[in-house]
Amino acid sequence: MKVISCDVLVIGSGGAGARAAIEAHDRGAHVIVVAKTLEGKAHTVMAEGGINAALGFRDPDDTWESHFMDTVEEGVFLNDQRMAEILARESPDRVFDLERFGAMFDRDEQGRIAQRPFGGQSHRRTCYVGDTTGHEVIMTLVEAARHRGIDYRSELVVTTLLHDPDDGSRIIGAFAIDVQRGSYLVFLASATILATGGAGRIYTITSNPVEATGDGYAMALRSGATLVDMEQTQFHPTSMIFPESAKGMLVTEAVRGEGGYLLNSEDERFMKRYNPEQMELSPRDQTARAIYTEIQEGRGTPRGGVYLDITHKGQDLIMARIPRMVKQFEKFANIDITTSPMEVAPTAHHFMGGVRVVPETCESNDLPGLFACGEAAGGTHGANRLGGNALAETQVFGKRAGEAAAGHAADRSPPNDYDAAFVQREIERLEQPFGAEGAAPHALKEELGRLMWENAGIVRNEKLLVEGLRRLRHLGRTQCAVKGSRRYNPDWVDYIELQNMVLVSECVLTCALSRKESRGAHYRSDHPRRDDSSGLVHYTCTLQDGVLHIGSVPVEITRADPTMRRGD
Ligand code: FUM
Repeated sequence: MKVISCDVLVIGSGGAGARAAIEAHDRGAHVIVVAKTLEGKAHTVMAEGGINAALGFRDPDDTWESHFMDTVEEGVFLNDQRMAEILARESPDRVFDLERFGAMFDRDEQGRIAQRPFGGQSHRRTCYVGDTTGHEVIMTLVEAARHRGIDYRSELVVTTLLHDPDDGSRIIGAFAIDVQRGSYLVFLASATILATGGAGRIYTITSNPVEATGDGYAMALRSGATLVDMEQTQFHPTSMIFPESAKGMLVTEAVRGEGGYLLNSEDERFMKRYNPEQMELSPRDQTARAIYTEIQEGRGTPRGGVYLDITHKGQDLIMARIPRMVKQFEKFANIDITTSPMEVAPTAHHFMGGVRVVPETCESNDLPGLFACGEAAGGTHGANRLGGNALAETQVFGKRAGEAAAGHAADRSPPNDYDAAFVQREIERLEQPFGAEGAAPHALKEELGRLMWENAGIVRNEKLLVEGLRRLRHLGRTQCAVKGSRRYNPDWVDYIELQNMVLVSECVLTCALSRKESRGAHYRSDHPRRDDSSGLVHYTCTLQDGVLHIGSVPVEITRADPTMRRGD
């Protein structure tokens, strides 16, 4: 077994992981970043339309306090308010860091960073690079990390965290498969950062890349961490609906931010019936449900979506502000969006839930030495995330996690031993499907995606959720078979990911069943109202002897009382 040591191990190479790695490195730590596929290949690129920061360039009266209130109101007061406050206060400085690292944001007439409107926000505060903001951010960060000589290791699938043999709860690194060689690796680290993103891939229609299989959630849970708010899965209102190969591919909110209209088959701007004040820039949960309702009630397009039309804005603006959308529709659907409307429908986009952490340090409440940031951590967004807050979260909490992990590593001597028997049991778990008769893991992944879309989608109710759990238990018990060797075997990776996806899906379904009200992205047709008398709790997931337990902790109110209105 090859054993590799470092001060800080970062699992995940997207925006949060890269920012954490840079910060830990700059504070003197020896850092290794492990990427499941290629460095920088992450959901970060799908934050196309921008990053929120109350710079006040476009709207001078914008403040961090209004950004905080927008975040908490959009999150329907389920947010960890300490996290939301940190996000709103610190995102301006993190945007300036990105500029310092070399990111080229679009500019306004006075040469300052340009800001556009985004859904659910009181001010125009979303900073952008056309409609490729996430791409610019991740490329800039990878470049900055490379420039510093940070050690990236690609195509390593981390399967479990490792505990200190002398202190059962402390995390001292992780165990991984080298996909190319089919060999095993042990990483020993004084601090381990989970920056593994979300789990959009548990849904058949998703904007997420293939990497987003909830590995961080599942590993943290199996190691004794608590997850929060796992019922809160965000459906982005607009994605492509055809061709089949492009189904679920994101159509950025920037289209609506730049003035695009949502129209049904009767040529009606239907958002006026759902939210006449905010129209196309209503919160994401409302917009996604409105589109869903239009389609369900027979006012959708023949292909099963609605129209998104920006042709009235003219070719120059469209080419300047959303060039990626122009290319995407031209390439995949043979449509010129400067002259024809797009057809769109919702797609699974973001997990608001995740590992429960101490807001200021991003350290797990349960496992010393384990840190989580970005989509891997829960709490910042509550029941619904503002578009543009995901990139901000990666930068704000990536930096904080890197700083805290480097400090943690500096305070203790590095681990030099691990529990070999535990690793042996992990290898047996991983190798179980070799030589067995059974189903192909990729087929079960597809079945899981359909199950979650049908039973834990935009509209939920007890019957659907109970049925979903029944289907999931059956799927989870199905024996898998993996043929071939351990070297470069995608079936084997599918198998490992499937185990994680099944566990994460159980968390989503069970928490969704527990939350007997509608709040933000979690909408129950059998409990269609928000209920503050019972709903102001985070549902929690823990694993005890392999059995999932659902608990609850009250939402801590630090600044914004749920009964308070803006300006109070
Ligand atoms: O629509 C978008 O560009 C996505 C942004 C986000 O999810 O933050």
